[in-house]
Amino acid sequence: MNYNILVTGGAGYIGTVLVPQLLSRGYKVTVLDNLLHNADGLISCFRSKNFTFVKGDIRDESLISSITPKYDIIIHLAAIVGYPACRSNPDLAYSINVSGSKNISKNLSKEQTIFFGSTGSNYGIVKEICTEETPLNPLSLYGTSKTEAEEILLNNNSCIAYRFATAFGISPRLRLDLLINDFAFKAIKQGYVVVYEKHFRRTFIHVEDIARSFLFGIDNMDSMRSNVYNIGSNKMNHTKEEICELIKDRTNAYFHYAAIGEDSDKRDYIVSYDKIQKLGFDTEITVEEGLDEMIKCFSIIDINSPYSNV
Ligand SMILES: NC(=O)c1ccc[n+]([C@@H]2O[C@H](COP(=O)([O-])OP(=O)(O)OC[C@H]3O[C@@H](n4cnc5c(N)ncnc54)[C@H](O)[C@@H]3O)[C@@H](O)[C@H]2O)c1
Repeated sequence: MNYNILVTGGAGYIGTVLVPQLLSRGYKVTVLDNLLHNADGLISCFRSKNFTFVKGDIRDESLISSITPKYDIIIHLAAIVGYPACRSNPDLAYSINVSGSKNISKNLSKEQTIFFGSTGSNYGIVKEICTEETPLNPLSLYGTSKTEAEEILLNNNSCIAYRFATAFGISPRLRLDLLINDFAFKAIKQGYVVVYEKHFRRTFIHVEDIARSFLFGIDNMDSMRSNVYNIGSNKMNHTKEEICELIKDRTNAYFHYAAIGEDSDKRDYIVSYDKIQKLGFDTEITVEEGLDEMIKCFSIIDINSPYSNV
């Protein structure tokens, strides 16, 4: 099928990996993004006649009502992402993550399919193995706003909600605030990393595997609609300390395990990915492979402070 696809937030970390993959399948792709960061990661896409870029905001009612009906599939990624970013501007975060999603939701028809980029931060503290049926108990504004948006979008029978593990790896719009990327960058550039809550169990997925999960979803959307899926792999649950050991194997960095500091989302859980695996999706890229590519790439990134003479 030659789908016409709208990707909101497509200029971001996940979008800039996903959009070239959609184009390479021959789909027509429009990115709608208000460019909170920039669009540099999409520059190579402009060469494609199937690519369109719209600079705009998902909260803009007239824009969303005029463009949404044109698409077979909407991949909704636009958001203020992560608890630190949400905490630094709570009103903006709520308005984009919840009101923006509501605005998209009310303009959908039942012929369209919407994929929602949701998150494991919806779960909060979980003692047992976390499945899609585990009650949601989000603890940060990021988690509560994504949970509310997910609920709104799932009211459309055409919604497929993907609760992602924490992403890692290289993207044209690189994020260094993600746990593995952050630790690896500090290990290479500073030579030391301070780590709190070292025993906390987290769950990870390479950004290329996130992009693949959308291609998988497009191929299987008729059987996947009106459902939530944890997106990651049973083999990718690791403690923070295990991640540090993998980085130590590849660098000379010193790791200090600190008694202070905490994750506002309290993510310390093992997540089950049985539901998506039973349908035939699993991840392909290991943490080790992601670390190797990042360590290579970090040689081209400098830390510059305008207030340092160095
Ligand atoms: N990266 C992860 O580990 C991860 C994990 C779980 C869920 N997610 C979800 O996946 C989605 C994408 O995450 P990402 O890592 O690519 O984040 P990102 O911050 O790199 O990208 C978000 C994009 O949304 C755009 N945007 C923000 N507000 C907008 C608005 N009002 N209108 C239009 N565009 C807007 C930004 O300009 C940016 O390009 C988010 O919804 C996030 O909650 C990401």
